[in-house]
Amino acid sequence: MSKYDFDCVIDRHGTYATKYDGLDQMFGRHDVTPLWIADLDFAVCPDITAALRRRIEHPVLGYSAAPESYWQSIIDWQKRRHGFIIERDEISFVPGVVKGIGLAVNYFTSRGDGIIIQPPVYHPFRMVIEGNERRVVENPLIFEGDSYRMDLEGLQQVIDREHPRMMILCNPHNPVGIQWDADTLREVARMCARANIIVVSDEIHGDLMLGGRKHIPFVSVSDDARRIAITLGAPSKTFNIPGLVSSWMVVKDPDLRRGFYHWLEVNEFNAPVLISTIGAEAAYLHGEDWLDEMLAYVAENIKFVDAYLRDNVPGVKAIMPQASFLIWLDFRSLGLSQEQLMRLMLEKAHLAMNDGSMFGSQGVGFVRLNVGTPRCVLEKALENIKLAVTEQLEA
Ligand SMILES: Cc1ncc(COP(=O)(O)O)c(C=O)c1O
Repeated sequence: MSKYDFDCVIDRHGTYATKYDGLDQMFGRHDVTPLWIADLDFAVCPDITAALRRRIEHPVLGYSAAPESYWQSIIDWQKRRHGFIIERDEISFVPGVVKGIGLAVNYFTSRGDGIIIQPPVYHPFRMVIEGNERRVVENPLIFEGDSYRMDLEGLQQVIDREHPRMMILCNPHNPVGIQWDADTLREVARMCARANIIVVSDEIHGDLMLGGRKHIPFVSVSDDARRIAITLGAPSKTFNIPGLVSSWMVVKDPDLRRGFYHWLEVNEFNAPVLISTIGAEAAYLHGEDWLDEMLAYVAENIKFVDAYLRDNVPGVKAIMPQASFLIWLDFRSLGLSQEQLMRLMLEKAHLAMNDGSMFGSQGVGFVRLNVGTPRCVLEKALENIKLAVTEQLEA
């Protein structure tokens, strides 16, 4: 029997939720169903809200230090779920995964240095690189009809040609939902280690493996990887607490870690925040059943989208994710420009989804759908897509 009710529709308006209250700013209207930014519409595990409430009831909210139990909860979770062994001195708090990437970019690279990304990929990777006046070095993924693979030959070529200092890896890869296999990750590690390239591995979606698949932390695949990896993770996507901002970083190699962690420390970039540590610890200690049930629900949502599109919307295809609650939808057969496609989704289907081209030019013709929402919301959204696409095809 299910303990949690993921079918419940919760009104999130007026809670400062970017997904809802940010619609006007992002899409220019608010009368649409938001299935964009990557958080879930589900109530969090009640143990998390109970722990936060207990602390908030105390009337003094002074400077706080994270207890040892907080660090241990991360270490135990990683070991239990992924076989990822972390020592206490290897782990640091970071105020967000993107901020962690920004900190690594600023500390380890200089203006003009090349940094590899593999589009289509989570758009802030490019923003951090360009915003800090570093150089984006692209090694696009290769699309193979049903899924994507990494272009390992291309990677070697850009390393030889552009002499990058860093690579930002997305593992699992947003928006296409792939968990990279160990052989691929080992090859990345081998090539990058040989060229002294630091690999920042964003593993924020690593707890969200679907269908019994295993997450493979990049740092775990070889000695090369261990020497060059900066791993970033968080309970935020896992337990739907991104508003608490509770990310962490692991650097295993002592030489890579020493100066960097000192710099984080003296600038207090690594200072844990009271509410985030309480929420994160409660989630890691008590949220496992909730997570497993949530993932089962999301897996059914993904199957539902795939079946619905196959049966009702020929020409629109779901790229099936191996991880997380985001589906990369292929609309290319409609032959629309990206602007026409997004207008069709917004104005005819009344849906706010992520424009595929924001993840790179390779995303033209695609849209990213967030299925972390009650099934009835998803059913209605798919009906709207069907009506909009049918109308478009008949026009
Ligand atoms: C791959 C990836 N990294 C990072 C983030 C954001 O993490 P944070 O809010 O901790 O910066 C997201 C959110 O969608 C993501 O998909």
